[in-house]
Order: sequence, then structure tokens, then C-alpha cells
Amino acid sequence: MTVLTPGRNIVLIGLMGAGKTTVGRIVADRLGRPFVDTDDVVEHEAGRSIPAIFAEEGERGFRRREATAVRQVAALRGQVIAVGGGAVLDPGNRTQLRMTGDMILLDAVPAELGERLSAEGAGERPLLEGERDLTARLAMLLDRRRGEYERAAAYVVDTTGRSPEDVAEEILGWAPTRAGLLARDEIPL
Ligand code: S3P
Repeated sequence: MTVLTPGRNIVLIGLMGAGKTTVGRIVADRLGRPFVDTDDVVEHEAGRSIPAIFAEEGERGFRRREATAVRQVAALRGQVIAVGGGAVLDPGNRTQLRMTGDMILLDAVPAELGERLSAEGAGERPLLEGERDLTARLAMLLDRRRGEYERAAAYVVDTTGRSPEDVAEEILGWAPTRAGLLARDEIPL
């Protein structure tokens, strides 16, 4: 039995298609913790979709909004947080997230990220817009970002060929020692 202490946030990072939102919801559900996604916070605050923000304010406008959303969610405790794939490339965002949470990198090979994104429709991701070879584009982005992702992460999960439930299970196995979760018999009296 695991119970919550006023814990550190669990922050899921990684490229588009890594499963941050799907896995994050499962982990949050299993822990009875709130789930929050910075992309949703950005859209809610802007009252517009991410493609609309990119179209009207450019990527710079989106990144400014994303940094505000990161500050908001990092101020919370005991949350499961999914951040947009580019969020942790910004040193300020990394610092904020690290203060209150542990970052977990969801990794996967580009071909599988591409398959998942074509299945769910890549249309909501401006960085992939009009891209015919999704796998090549994702491989290029991953190549550019991998170093930052790995430096930010306290733990890395390879999600290639695995179901979201299986990935969530691995995170739940790791989180107790790191994220303010303790087995009942480990709680100090
Ligand atoms: C982005 C990833 C997207 C979203 C935006 C930019 C990125 O989020 O924030 O389209 O730079 O990788 P997901 O990783 O949740 O798809």
C-alpha cells in the first residue's frame, strides 16, 4: 500500500508521442493525485489552441506562455505533471520544475513516436505541420534534444514497444523512494 505524503511532483518529460499525457493520467489516477498538463494550461490561459497560438504569436509567443504555465504548475505540490516536449529545453523551466519535482524521461525510438503520432493525428503539433516523413523529423528533434532531456531526468523509462499501463507501472515502482511517496510501513511516526 502506498500513501501520499505532501510530496514532490512527478514530472513527465520527452518528445511528442512519448506518452506523457496518457501515462501521466494513469500514474495520477493510481496515486490519487491531480494530473496537470502544461499544454492544457497554456491553451486554457490563452483561450486558444496551440496551433492558433503558434500561428498568431509564433513559437516565441508560445514559449513565453509555456514558461508562465511551468511556473504555475511548479508552484504546486503532489501533482503528476506532463510538460510539452520543448519545455525543458529552457534552463529557467528546468530550474522551476526541479525545485518541486523529479523529472522522468519517457523515451522511445523515433519510428514508434511517429507511428503513435500518426495514429492520434499530428495535426495538433505545429512543429510537425506539413511533415510527410514524421519519423525523420522526430529523429532530428530527438537528436537535438536528447542531451537536455537526459540531463534533466532523474529517471529514464524506455517506452518502445510497451503499453502506457506497463510504463506507468515502472514509474510507480520507482516513484516511492523519490517523489515523496512511502509505503505505509515506512512512514515515520
Ligand atoms: C512541443 C510539444 C507539444 C507542444 C508544442 C511544442 C515541442 O507538446 O507543447 O506543440 O516543442 O516538442 P507535446 O510534447 O505534449 O506533444
